[in-house]
Amino acid sequence: MKINTASFVISNSHVNKCPSEKIAEYAFIGRSNVGKSSLINMLTNHKSLAKTSNKPGKTQLINHFMINNEWFLVDLPGYGYAKVSKKTRNKFQGLIYDYFNKRLQLVCTFVLIDSRHDAQKIDLEFMQYLGENAIPFCIIFTKSDKSSKTTIDKNISRYKKSMLQYWETMPTYFISSAVDKNGKKEILSFIKNVNNDLKK
Ligand code: GTP
Ligand code: MG
Repeated sequence: MKINTASFVISNSHVNKCPSEKIAEYAFIGRSNVGKSSLINMLTNHKSLAKTSNKPGKTQLINHFMINNEWFLVDLPGYGYAKVSKKTRNKFQGLIYDYFNKRLQLVCTFVLIDSRHDAQKIDLEFMQYLGENAIPFCIIFTKSDKSSKTTIDKNISRYKKSMLQYWETMPTYFISSAVDKNGKKEILSFIKNVNNDLKK
């Protein structure tokens, strides 16, 4: 899929204020600093559509972007950042779970995982929650430019083993880099296919 237009629509601190149009929506979620906002910029060919930072905790609101006048892309705050106060962490957690519990327009969620790291409890638990609530998701292993292909392959096969302790099959997954644009074609083509299926 070619992205012809991508524009910021609105930032919200509450799911009830998110756009009310019944438009297919794709959300990007994961630990703080995993690369959600950078991936969104890479997919939409923008340098700073979504705000990025090397300091975790940059995205603090639910951010809607309209793509090709056809679908919404949503940038969310990260979960699991230890260096903020408990109060702030609880506020983000509440916002995130409220979004997933209430957002009927949500078609698919991309759970971002750093391709260099072993499976972490917080990500496994979050995917468990999505599964229990029948919220469809894919995994995106980010920052692939930081390791060799061999290392990434090894890491992902280890990750699969961890996932298969809880899941019957490994969810659909992609490998991406916001630096060298790895995975862009595959992720956009997946979204295009889901959008086409919704029209049938
Ligand atoms: P929060 O909004 O704080 O939850 O973070 P985020 O998940 O949106 O991460 P963000 O996109 O802001 O990126 C965090 C840091 O990782 C930034 O310094 C980015 O430049 C860097 N980064 C993100 N994606 C990549 C990537 O694919 N490769 C490399 N090398 N660095 C990346
Ligand atoms: Mg962000």
